Amino acid sequence: MQDLWYKTAVIYCVDVEKYADSDGDGVGDLRGLTEKLDHIAGLGATCLWLLPFFVSPRKDNGYDVVDYYCVDPRLGTLRDFSVLVKEAGERGMRVMIDLVMAHTSDEHPWFLAARRDRRSRYRGYYLWADSPPAVPLGATTAFPGEDDRLWTYDEVAGAYYYHRFYRFQPQLDFRNPEVRREAEAVMDFWLAMGVSGFRMDALPVLVGPDPALPGHRDTHGWLRRIRERVSQQRPDTALLGEVDLDTEQLVEYFGDGDEMNMLFGFFLNGHIWLAVAGEDKEPLLKALGQLPAGPPGCQWVNFLRNLDELNLSWLSPDDRALVYGRFAPDEGMRAYGRGIRRRLSPMLGDPRLVELAWALTFSLPGAPLIVYGDEIGLGDDLGADGRAAVRVPMQWSSARNGGFSTARPGHLVRPVVSKGAFSYRRVNVERQSGDPSSRLSFMRRLIAAWRACPEFALGRWHPFDTGAREVMAHHCVWKDGHVVAVHNLSHRPSGIRFDVRDHRSRLLQPVFGEAEEREVSEGVWDVALGPYGYRWYRVTYAATGEVPDSW
Ligand code: BGC
Ligand code: MG
Repeated sequence: MQDLWYKTAVIYCVDVEKYADSDGDGVGDLRGLTEKLDHIAGLGATCLWLLPFFVSPRKDNGYDVVDYYCVDPRLGTLRDFSVLVKEAGERGMRVMIDLVMAHTSDEHPWFLAARRDRRSRYRGYYLWADSPPAVPLGATTAFPGEDDRLWTYDEVAGAYYYHRFYRFQPQLDFRNPEVRREAEAVMDFWLAMGVSGFRMDALPVLVGPDPALPGHRDTHGWLRRIRERVSQQRPDTALLGEVDLDTEQLVEYFGDGDEMNMLFGFFLNGHIWLAVAGEDKEPLLKALGQLPAGPPGCQWVNFLRNLDELNLSWLSPDDRALVYGRFAPDEGMRAYGRGIRRRLSPMLGDPRLVELAWALTFSLPGAPLIVYGDEIGLGDDLGADGRAAVRVPMQWSSARNGGFSTARPGHLVRPVVSKGAFSYRRVNVERQSGDPSSRLSFMRRLIAAWRACPEFALGRWHPFDTGAREVMAHHCVWKDGHVVAVHNLSHRPSGIRFDVRDHRSRLLQPVFGEAEEREVSEGVWDVALGPYGYRWYRVTYAATGEVPDSW
């Protein structure tokens, strides 16, 4: 039987370079991360997702790879990686890594060989043109304003090459079977190193249709093939696709349950933000209504933020303006005309709102993902360029450099946040550890509650009609379990009255949030919620211990 561990995984995303520096060179490393595994396991995470740690000039935070088979020497060695996987496993955690195959770095030996010699076998790994082909009007890279053109002239090659990201990331031609074989070999290698899965970077760019590339691209054939291959090697391997398309195209990447095991919930994400910004659940309910369940065995991965910009491109201009107005009023807080480059805590301000947003996100259909530092409410650095604003070093203590590194501050890979409300002296793991009112304690409770309620990850989802736009309430049923979640999106107190149709008495046991045990009968059930208040309950019939299958 297929192991469905990922359906109930709590994924913790780590940028190794910014996490913990074990050797004092100012760069976080695999050993440093291994030393912090107790922190991550203590939080309740069950799966690490590591951002690219391969040999790379790191002009795009490691998404510009020069050697897929080697750890960047500043970040460690393959042996360090093996130790990390083993130590994580001993703490009940799996390791998932990024597979960055849509492009290489322009310093990759394949590209160096390809540009030098038209007859090289590597020439066909990339996409070339003697004169820049016409591109559809407005077509640009993923980073408009930073790199606008899709075709860049290379002097050595005497030709233009194609890239959907930065110009130093020439796109690989996945129509070429040799390129596909290279990707398969990379996967084989890391599976043998013990990884449990891959985050498939920029998947539509890798295999999806591309107006600039005439001819048929066998999008799904290859995905089916790799799924079969990885499952043969390691039956519990999970593939997580980074696919930011509309829901109809998106769900195709699950195939018939034989392609991606998981997909990021980008679509839902934009609507979570819209609901939170507008204090109105309606857009979120609508998005949930449009969200396909996907074939059995598949799972959505829900998140609030990742380490890129918060992409709001699925929202209409008016809706985007609403989110900007509330959470990114200054132009400098935005990126690429479509997103926000802030971290959660500074962006949301009120800690109650941050916690509400987390509780809501965890309660939605899928498995949750959190980004390193979110567990303590890490701040950001808007003085840094673009997406670097959110990629600040982790803050462990009030020691020098927040305990991230013993290097001289000028030698750190990125400056630590050292001023203001989010300075490492105020916001750090050590300070929050023993404090029940800290964000860290909240996140531990949230994760523990979510793990105790598999209904959220595995069950069927039904909204309640609450009669109040600001109150989102839903229940999830799975096997013989039944949970109810109530979230107040408003900064004002609110409440709802449920109508219990069959008039049978139910016991509501609080599993999360402020609530006392309740017995519900007599046809109505009132819940009062404070500003940004939330509650999760487990439901059983008081008399028989039975579980209601409907409300
Ligand atoms: C990553 C980005 C990166 C891009 C190019 C995205 O999926 O999340 O950080 O810049 O891929 O590889
Ligand atoms: Mg180091």
